[in-house]
Amino acid sequence: MTYQEWWRKSTIYQVYPKSFMDTTGNGVGDIRGLIDKLDYLKNLGIDMVWLQPVYVSPQNDNGYDVADYCQINPDYGTMEDFDELVRELKSRGMELMLDIVVNHSSTEHRWFQESRKSRDNPYRDYYIWKDPGPDGGYPNNWQSKFGGPAWQYDETTGQYFLTLFDKTQADLNWENPKLREEVIKLMTFWAEKGVRGFRLDVINLISKDQQFPDDDVSVLPGDGRRFYTDGPRVHEFIKELNEKVFSPYQIVTVGEMSSTTLENCIRYSNPSEHEFSMTFSFHHLKVDYPHGQKWELMPYDFEQLKRLLSEWQVGMQQGGGWNALFLNNHDQPRALSRFTDDFQYRKEGAKLLATTLHGLQGTPYVFQGEEIGMPNPQWNDISELRDIESLNMYRIMQENGKTREEAFEIIKQRSRDNSRTPMQWNSDAQAGFTTGTPWIKVDERYPEINAEREMNDPDSIFNHYKRLISLRKEYPILTEGIYHRLDEAHPQVFAYSRSSENETLVVVSNFSNEAVEFEFPQDFVLEQLDGREHTLLIGNTEEKPALRKLISLSPFASYMWLIHDLKKLN
Ligand code: GLC
Repeated sequence: MTYQEWWRKSTIYQVYPKSFMDTTGNGVGDIRGLIDKLDYLKNLGIDMVWLQPVYVSPQNDNGYDVADYCQINPDYGTMEDFDELVRELKSRGMELMLDIVVNHSSTEHRWFQESRKSRDNPYRDYYIWKDPGPDGGYPNNWQSKFGGPAWQYDETTGQYFLTLFDKTQADLNWENPKLREEVIKLMTFWAEKGVRGFRLDVINLISKDQQFPDDDVSVLPGDGRRFYTDGPRVHEFIKELNEKVFSPYQIVTVGEMSSTTLENCIRYSNPSEHEFSMTFSFHHLKVDYPHGQKWELMPYDFEQLKRLLSEWQVGMQQGGGWNALFLNNHDQPRALSRFTDDFQYRKEGAKLLATTLHGLQGTPYVFQGEEIGMPNPQWNDISELRDIESLNMYRIMQENGKTREEAFEIIKQRSRDNSRTPMQWNSDAQAGFTTGTPWIKVDERYPEINAEREMNDPDSIFNHYKRLISLRKEYPILTEGIYHRLDEAHPQVFAYSRSSENETLVVVSNFSNEAVEFEFPQDFVLEQLDGREHTLLIGNTEEKPALRKLISLSPFASYMWLIHDLKKLN
């Protein structure tokens, strides 16, 4: 395995445009707002910006319901703005990654409008239409990921169409070669504009079992996902995209893999397979779902988090795959609130999560606001929320017997809106995000938590991220080092090493609000630690401790050391 590609040493920044920066005063962020902030991202050390969907869309799922793949939604600006964004990025040595949403389109897309007209319309087979089941009901028992059945009945032709997400997001039929041609066309359109990255939305769901069987619920969650996740032809379809677009245009690609497996992600991301550059997987972010149920609460399982991260580190490394590293995105509550104490130890907690993640092998992603330690916002009432999934689940939980209070408590912790409130730029009204009324509330803590304050403080979370991002460029061991877990199920500490021929990197993090001690395992001490010269590369306490067999860690303390040149010392 060689690690020469630039994106293996890079950090990618995720922009949720609706909430990033508004320049028109309409309360919705826009492309010009992003252009205005490019120097901020350059300062952070970012190489590529992942811009979430800005296409024409009714916005039922904030742009993941695309009505025209090759036009900019006027709320976000114009195609001229877009072209300028690409130019402005390149002039600063950065590149653009676009979000490609082709498992489904909006039902407002022209293809769907045609498709629903008659059973013999040329666009009929762009989507998945089925007759009612034998009892006149749904064609099968698959469930939508946003709640309720995955099928919508259309009276004009007396058939159902498949919608794995919202009822206005119709699944595209990848079995149809004409549809695949269209996808290649639209990707080529953006590649020709100078886009050098694609993030492919729920791309491992594109190949459905053509028998469309009922789920017998023998495997949880029993919603039908096992019949379309990493489905029969998915690798074939991706290879075709790679051959026709990714390779010719040298596109960096990250596939979003819903409920996937390690084996599949190795195939998706091992360069010899010619599919993607890397994959997002989500198992490590389900460690607070009791029995896999997102809409139930439990404290997160720390051992499980460490086990899953380690399993994917080792597995992807051995299989020649490549992880996209992340703890936050626009679909997740803020990791800071989920895994640390976002009041008393907000600063320590944010830095701990960053160090722990950025020490791993893969390409790190920073989701807007993460680099300034934005926590989940304070929600006071359900009317403050906007997300379609949250509002659906709020209703469904009550239909299933939860009280309003219980349902709201779950929404507060689980809602995707937790990460979608406006970026906090400064302490002006609306955190400097807009001069108008924001489409979703700004968190009340913005006078204390904002980018301006962070930039002015040498010891800030922002500056911690900046250092981590530059360490990855400076030290090849962060890209190449072999991962090894060191903590043997310690109840509070996560410790691991990354080793190359001559050096070892060590990361130790105390995930608790108590002072604890950590002792390295004996074999590690003998082989690596004893008498070796080492440097503290980064930490989050005033004290700069040396690396010892036994170390004391204050609440949420986290350190990364480099043990030097083993050979020379041997
Ligand atoms: C992905 C997106 C999410 C969206 C869903 C349907 O998971 O990240 O925001 O709702 O796909 O497109």
